[in-house]
Amino acid sequence: MEVKLAKCAGFCFGVKRAVDAVYEQLGYENYKKIYTYGPIVHNEEVVNDLKEQGVEVLDGIEDLKNLCSGCVIIRAHGIPPEVYDIINENHLECIDATCPFVKKIHRIVEEAVDEGKNVCIVGNPDHPEVKGIVGWSKNKAVVIENAQDVENLCLDKDKEVVVVAQTTSNFNKFNLLVDILNKNGYNVNVVNTICNATQERQDAAAKLAEEVDVCIVIGGKNSSNTRKLYDICRERCALTYYIQTSDDLHLDLPDTVKQIGITAGASTPNKLIEEVQNYVRINF
Ligand code: F3S
Repeated sequence: MEVKLAKCAGFCFGVKRAVDAVYEQLGYENYKKIYTYGPIVHNEEVVNDLKEQGVEVLDGIEDLKNLCSGCVIIRAHGIPPEVYDIINENHLECIDATCPFVKKIHRIVEEAVDEGKNVCIVGNPDHPEVKGIVGWSKNKAVVIENAQDVENLCLDKDKEVVVVAQTTSNFNKFNLLVDILNKNGYNVNVVNTICNATQERQDAAAKLAEEVDVCIVIGGKNSSNTRKLYDICRERCALTYYIQTSDDLHLDLPDTVKQIGITAGASTPNKLIEEVQNYVRINF
């Protein structure tokens, strides 16, 4: 059986940087309690491994308010300014692993609001990255997720509207919403903040799915980018499977299968990808 790996799969730069930051802290001899503000990555394997080594996940602002010592690691999604304020007020150590690409969006919206401009964020209002960006806009940004949200907008048309995107947004959807903003007479200044890492993984998954007989997509249950990769592969390859680890692989494959393709979401560590790769090589 031939096993093919997508050209681009697994941890993106920002997630790798954040996960590495936690393991780096664990490596230091001076023991201090380590917390991550939310799960460091949408991957249960990684989060459980860290938990076993004593890392605790803070659920939100209330957990943080009750903390008076330890080191808090900020994940790649970033946080709004008020969370930094609590960390400082409680004299907690902070390792900020916000992805630099997300930080850039914080700066853009902060400046825009300071200059009196409107800000629109294309994205999911419930996503932590988007909540963080809204915070940096002094809670003035409007989040738009679909065409109806744009139609419902009621912003001052004399002011410029700075439009940014959640880093994992779909490019076509972003363009569509910008087109509607233009059509509705807004003076838009579009800053495309969609991260290449997402597109690269999606393109590589599509290419792979067209070449193989079976596709295996590895990623956490709650990872939206892995779900998207699964959908892309499934459209092109009927035998596509979504798994978290090699333990989920119980495939009964027809004899006609000659090639298996493997891809993984941006929150899947290399170790897991290698494990699945080896499992497939040995067992099929
Ligand atoms: Fe950063 Fe892009 Fe990953 S914004 S967290 S490198 S998807």
